[in-house]
Amino acid sequence: MAAPTPARAEDAHTIRALERLARRRLSPAAYDYFRSGADAERTLLRNERAFRRFALHYRVLVDVAEPDLSIEVFGARLASPIGVAPTAYHKLADPDGERATARAAERAGSLFIVSTLATTSLEEVAAASAGPKWFQLYVHKDRGFTRALVERAEAAGYGALVLTVDTPLLGKRLRDVHNRFALPEPLVMANLVDAPGVKDASGSALQAYVASRHDASLTWRDVDWLASLTKLPIVPKGIVRADDARLAVEHGARGVLVSNHGGRQLDGAPATIDALGAVAEAVGDRLVVMMDGGVRWGSDVLVALARGARLVFLGRPILWGLAAFGEAGALRVLDLLREDLRRAMALAGCPRLDSLPPDLVHA
Ligand code: GLV
Repeated sequence: MAAPTPARAEDAHTIRALERLARRRLSPAAYDYFRSGADAERTLLRNERAFRRFALHYRVLVDVAEPDLSIEVFGARLASPIGVAPTAYHKLADPDGERATARAAERAGSLFIVSTLATTSLEEVAAASAGPKWFQLYVHKDRGFTRALVERAEAAGYGALVLTVDTPLLGKRLRDVHNRFALPEPLVMANLVDAPGVKDASGSALQAYVASRHDASLTWRDVDWLASLTKLPIVPKGIVRADDARLAVEHGARGVLVSNHGGRQLDGAPATIDALGAVAEAVGDRLVVMMDGGVRWGSDVLVALARGARLVFLGRPILWGLAAFGEAGALRVLDLLREDLRRAMALAGCPRLDSLPPDLVHA
């Protein structure tokens, strides 16, 4: 049954309802950019669908009167294990862009991973709220510029570096190709306006920009180099294999984000909820294991936590909330999922996150 279109953020009860509204509010090209996956979008679909295979074998007659969703990660106390994944170009969704997202995350007691490709400078995002933030980093060929980005993030108070490792070049998103997708003026990639060789920070050719500026020769050696530059915890993002997660441990990472970039990079990649178990088994006692991809319900979050994630991130849902109702919409997404998770934990007989029974979830 299709839910009625919400008139206010508080009236939205599903991510789908917010997406429907966002689609009406965004330009067709912006909606396509946010929604699209690579190529045939098999991985995009797979991320969401894979959750349907899991069943929650709930327990009964457990005291669940006060479920505790709070969690501490790298010194930050969060109201729930649900964070905001890094996504580009929030000003396409709302004039206040990443600042609105930062305020929403703070109000929800959540963590915001700010993208290198933000339309607001990392300093301005940092100043917009007091909530915990991490910085998502793309390593540029120009290592001096990369180092400067790291130093800026550290100086601005970001609590970790989330190093995207699945994007040596950009996946082919067919709608963007057809639309000749460009950031509309006056929006810019605000962190990159001063980047040497970036003549056009408007992102008019994101694919060309990534091809010319990102370092496709990036290896684990560069993770060592990054670790030598900063004391911030490093979290490689875009890992789907246990052996790569073990390498992350060897190269000094403190966390790992199991992700396939929302199905926007290698089409055919596994659903992240399917990749998560092996990664958690391999390194869960040594790294903070996190995941994103296809999470749309509180019960999805619970499945991911039971499969070994300590933190779960939302990408597109935040953009739909932001496009639908600005800051209030992004906040609504975080509140909705947190309350859905609270209900799922209670109904599953699991009042605490650190004692989820390993057999709670079966595929
Ligand atoms: C940027 O990271 C994108 O996926 O478009």
